[in-house]
Amino acid sequence: MTDPSAQIFRWIDSPLIIATTASHGQLAGCVAGFHTQCSIEPVRYAVWLSKANHTQRVALFSTHVALHFLDKGDHDLAALFGGLSADEVDKFASVAWSAGPGGVPLIDACPNRIVLRRTTVWDDGSDHVCLIGEPIDAQAGPLDRAPMRVTDADDIEPGHSAGSRGTPNDLTAGESAEQNVATLEDIAAGSGHPIDLPGGH
Ligand SMILES: Cc1cc2nc3c(=O)[nH]c(=O)nc-3n(C[C@H](O)[C@H](O)[C@H](O)COP(=O)(O)O)c2cc1C
Repeated sequence: MTDPSAQIFRWIDSPLIIATTASHGQLAGCVAGFHTQCSIEPVRYAVWLSKANHTQRVALFSTHVALHFLDKGDHDLAALFGGLSADEVDKFASVAWSAGPGGVPLIDACPNRIVLRRTTVWDDGSDHVCLIGEPIDAQAGPLDRAPMRVTDADDIEPGHSAGSRGTPNDLTAGESAEQNVATLEDIAAGSGHPIDLPGGH
């Protein structure tokens, strides 16, 4: 029998965005269905990024996140940003973009977007991290096309499944262990929980 929660999630059929960000000279972006306005006064907006995703790793060190609201004509963009990972391809080599606040990449083909200045990050121990931000810039296009929704992307296999993230044990063994340990320490420090791992810096 189908899980009732999953049935309800399928029924509400969330609209899709591409969340982009930048830090330490790296650009990142992925499709997200987990996002919502979460305060009225002051306005706040939240997006949840999978710990498996390159975008989440870059976002932890970033100051800004841009949310590009997709419409039904944006399937190719959704396939690029949702079906491929920056661990394997340079997504920004195949789209026109310009740098926004904090260097966040703004995708030219998406006229409906909001740029957030990050105010907090929340990790409840699940497989996604919540970033909350203050909208500091927004642009709305004609809004005459319907939003692209999760069911419109049924044919897109996510570049990373939520459960595919490496464990600390995976990362601290093997040939690139030294670099991985340093990366883990940087991630922990950026999250506000510094750690000192054997073989780290
Ligand atoms: C319909 C759909 C919804 C998705 N929702 C989310 C989401 O809310 N948060 C997230 O981090 N990834 C989500 N993903 C997965 C990422 O977009 C995907 O794994 C992407 O390839 C990650 O790229 P990256 O490793 O370059 O960050 C979704 C993918 C699809 C197709």
